[in-house]
Amino acid sequence: MSKQTFSTHHGMVDILPGESEKWQFLESVVRETAREFHYGEIRTPILEQTELIARGIGQLTDIVSKEMFTFSRGDDNYVLRPECTAPVARAYVQHHLAQRGGAQKLFYIGPMFRAERPQKGRQRQFHQFGAELMGSGDAMADAEIIRFMMRVFEKIGIRNTVLQLNSVGDPESRKAYKEALIAYFSPHREKLSDISRQRLETNPMRILDSKEEEDQSLIEGAPVISDYLNDECREHYAKVKQYLNDLNIPYTENPRLVRGLDYYTKTAFELTSPDLGSQDALGGGGRYDLLIEEVGGQPTPAVGFACGIERLMIACEAAGIELGKPSRPMVYIVTRGEAARDWTVGAIDRLRNSGISATTDYSRRSIKAQLKDANRQDARFCIIAGESELETGQFTFRDMEASEEVRMNFDEIVRKLNQDSD
Ligand code: HAM
Repeated sequence: MSKQTFSTHHGMVDILPGESEKWQFLESVVRETAREFHYGEIRTPILEQTELIARGIGQLTDIVSKEMFTFSRGDDNYVLRPECTAPVARAYVQHHLAQRGGAQKLFYIGPMFRAERPQKGRQRQFHQFGAELMGSGDAMADAEIIRFMMRVFEKIGIRNTVLQLNSVGDPESRKAYKEALIAYFSPHREKLSDISRQRLETNPMRILDSKEEEDQSLIEGAPVISDYLNDECREHYAKVKQYLNDLNIPYTENPRLVRGLDYYTKTAFELTSPDLGSQDALGGGGRYDLLIEEVGGQPTPAVGFACGIERLMIACEAAGIELGKPSRPMVYIVTRGEAARDWTVGAIDRLRNSGISATTDYSRRSIKAQLKDANRQDARFCIIAGESELETGQFTFRDMEASEEVRMNFDEIVRKLNQDSD
């Protein structure tokens, strides 16, 4: 009887060679952009304390109430991080990053986990790149964070996007707005979906985020937050828009954009693409001036964004953008006989030590099969080594693209390959 086989969990995928080169390319674009904007990389653990995430993101959010992967061990409660803003805020407090002086500018790339129902563009393990600017309440910081995000998409060539912008205010503005929403929705509570009826009690602003059919016409007529912003929030929002205009970043104001995390204050934004289908957000973010205090730090204004890498890949495919090519070996050593294989162990090491990517056959196949394999792997050159070649020291060096062969000794081959790879 054959042994049981295993596969990845639902909504979690392997990224294989052929695909992973695209990821490497994208990551290099993010790193290059981070360098240009002068953001330092932060790498936080995959596991955090459940309490941090619950407090940071908000008990009543979908993420905390139903999408967390948690477990306990002894007295400790662990959660697989569903996002990275709360962890970065934790690190900022834990390591007293404020004492380094000025605003802290951090970026990250890594896996996040949410127990959502998987579908196209929605996974249980997915990947984000993001940036956080901590220690500035200036609208300049909001504009810079949005510019950073847009610059990555610009470099990759994804243009079919819409930047949606809103201000969700501060607690004072929101208090007035929530009251207005309750006054508006309450007389219609029977017409609302179950989930929106619940939100009317817990967090009425989240009704605006409802995808339920029966809520839509009511949402259309609901009061908008812009009418309830206090002077400070209104001025901040105006300044953000002014800077985006100065930077030639087009945006659409969406007064119903509330986002799915509770920590936002003032600016909230989302980058959507019609190429993505129902999961249309490529990225999102905003200002979170109260989060750092909420997780035990000094009051510290901050702003950031995160984008989904899988969704970016889908958008690239839709736009016909090729991200990075599968890697190909520079040289493939074809061997005939035991002595040639023995020789190859040292010879291939010498090639690799001089920076040349080299591979060979590992299963004692015929010359014909090895040449076919070299072709399949798209090797640029082949070295053919058999007993007579070892005796004379002259190898067949085959240019796979030109289909030409010359005889050379190994030193000459190494020199030639080094010249070609420069
Ligand atoms: P978020 O909107 O929850 O924000 O996630 C950001 C992006 O991650 C989404 O726009 C989407 O592209 C991607 N994403 C989210 N969930 C999934 C999923 N299940 N499968 C695939 N992709 C997904 C945040 O996470 C905030 N931390 C952003 C932020 C940073 N705000 C301030 N700083």
